[in-house]
Amino acid sequence: RMPILEQCYNLMDFEAVARKVMKKTAWAYYSSGADDEITMRENHSAFHKIWFRPRILEDVEKVDFSTTMLGTKVDIPFYVTATALGKLGNPEGEVILTRGAKKHNVIQMIPTLASCSFDEIMDAAEGDQVQWLQLYVNKNRDITKRIVQHAEKRGCKGLFITVDAPQLGRREKDMRSKFSDVGSNVQSTGGDNVDRSQGAARAISSFIDPSLSWKDIPWFLSITKMPILLKGVQRVEDVIRAIEVGVHGVVLSNHGGRQLDFARSGIEVLAEVMPVLRERGWQDRIEIYIDGGVRRATDIIKALCLGAKGVGIGRPFLYAMSTYGLPGVDRAMQLLKDEMEMNMRLIGCSSVGDLNPTLVDTRGLSLH
Ligand code: FNR
Repeated sequence: RMPILEQCYNLMDFEAVARKVMKKTAWAYYSSGADDEITMRENHSAFHKIWFRPRILEDVEKVDFSTTMLGTKVDIPFYVTATALGKLGNPEGEVILTRGAKKHNVIQMIPTLASCSFDEIMDAAEGDQVQWLQLYVNKNRDITKRIVQHAEKRGCKGLFITVDAPQLGRREKDMRSKFSDVGSNVQSTGGDNVDRSQGAARAISSFIDPSLSWKDIPWFLSITKMPILLKGVQRVEDVIRAIEVGVHGVVLSNHGGRQLDFARSGIEVLAEVMPVLRERGWQDRIEIYIDGGVRRATDIIKALCLGAKGVGIGRPFLYAMSTYGLPGVDRAMQLLKDEMEMNMRLIGCSSVGDLNPTLVDTRGLSLH
C-alpha cells in the first residue's frame, strides 16, 4: 500500500514510493543514469565529502534564505530544473511543477522536450511568475531561432543551452524497458522518425545538433536579449571560456549522471572553479549554478558556501509529481524550506549573504 503523503519526511522518501508505484517505463526513464551509473550515484555522494564548520552565538532568531537568480527574487536558492517527458509520470505533466513553483516562489526551467507544449506551461504560470527555457539546439537553426524568440516574447527570463548532450547517453535501464509512449509535444520539436526500440531517451533526441560549438554562441547572443547560460559545464577552463565569450552564467552539471559516466559531480567542479575565478577577480562576472544529487537543504547550503548562486533539482520533483501530484510537489518544496530554516540556524547564518567558504571543510573532496 502507498504511504500517505505526510509519511514522506524528506526528498528521498518520494523516490522510494515512486520506485514502488510508478509505471515501469516511466520509472526507468526518470531514474536511469548513463552506463554503470557511477556519476549518477556520485552526484549525491559527493555532498557527503563536505562537512560544516558552523559558527556559534550568532543571532539566528530570524532567518531569511531568499535570494535572487538572474535578477528574480526567489524564496529559496533552488529552481526546478528541466526534465523531459513529464506526462510519463503524471498525465497532467509539467504544469504541476509550474503550480508548485508558483506556490513556493521558485523558478521553473521549461524543457525543450516537455510533454506539455511550451505555451501550455507558460499559460499555467500566474501573475509575475518567472520561468526559464532549457534549449536543445536543433540542426535546423531556423527552428531554434523561432523557439528562442517565441520564448522571449512570451516572457521567459533565461535561456539555458544544454551543452553536455551532443548525443544522448546510454541509459540501459531505460533501453531495456521498451518505450512506446512518447509525449504529445515531441513531434513539434523535431523528434519525428523516432526509434522506439531504444528507450525513451534515444527515441526523442535525434534532432539535437552534435556540431554545436563555441562559434555558435555569439549567434545566440545576437538573437535574444534573454540572459544566456550554458548548462552542463564540467571544468574550469570552460567556465573561463564561457565568461570570455560573454554568456551570463553556467550550470555546473553532468545532466543528473545521464550523459558521460565518470563525469565529476557539480559540487566537486564548483570547488575547482571558484578559487580560480576569485584569483582572477572574476567571481562576479557570471552567475554559477550547479545541479545533480541535491536532496537536502544542507546540499544547497554547501553549494552556496562554495560560491553557487543557486542549485537545480530534478528527479525529486518528478517523483513527487508522479506519486502524489501537486500536493506531493508542494510538500517536497516545503520540506526543503523547513530543512533550510533549521540548518541555516544551526550553522549560524541568518541570510544567504552570510554563507561563505569558511563554513565548509572541503578537504574530503579530491581536488587537484
Ligand atoms: C533530465 N535532464 C535534462 N536536462 C536537459 O538539459 N534537458 C532535458 O531534456 C533533460 N531531461 C531530463 C529528464 C530526466 C528524467 C532527468 C532525471 C533529467 C537533466 C536535468 O536538467 C538535471 O541536470 C538533473 O536532473 C539534475 O540531477 P538530479 O536533481 O535529477 O539528481
